[in-house]
Amino acid sequence: MKYVSTRKKMLRWVVYGCSVLPIAAFGAGVEFPQEAGGYKPSDLPGYKIASGLCLMCHSSQYVSSQPPQSSPKYWSATIHKMKDVYKAPLQDDMIPAVVEYLSVEYGGQDRAAAHADYEKAMAALKKPASDKTSTK
Ligand code: HEC
Repeated sequence: MKYVSTRKKMLRWVVYGCSVLPIAAFGAGVEFPQEAGGYKPSDLPGYKIASGLCLMCHSSQYVSSQPPQSSPKYWSATIHKMKDVYKAPLQDDMIPAVVEYLSVEYGGQDRAAAHADYEKAMAALKKPASDKTSTK
């Protein structure tokens, strides 16, 4: 138990440090080798986002240590928690791509189903903005 609380304390400092880090690493497309804690390479667009933004605070081990078959809902909730609670610098429209990537590469979800979820999530994000053009 003592181990966990020390780890949490350390992570709080890590989070604090992350909040002042520029997003430069993301822009430069820095990729971490998987054996050094990087994410599983994939052609899914969420891989690039995860490699840039999810490695700011902790390695991909946090993801790979989650139960296999973790649901898209679980990944979505976790990523929202990273953004809302730990202040990961994620835009809302990046989240569906990361959910798709994690669901396929770490949750064992079918690619087509994951992509359908992605499309649905992106459409839901766009809805409020398109209200301007609707009649009501
Ligand atoms: C701003 C820092 C930060 C960023 C960026 C970040 N995380 Fe985290 N993450 C944390 C902290 C802090 C914890 C909690 C550690 C604990 O409680 O032991 C955590 C824990 C986790 C866990 C373990 C399960 C859980 O719910 O605690 C997963 C999975 C995870 N992060 C995935 C991600 C993914 C995917 C991304 C990119 C979308 C990401 N993280 C980006 C700070 C961050």
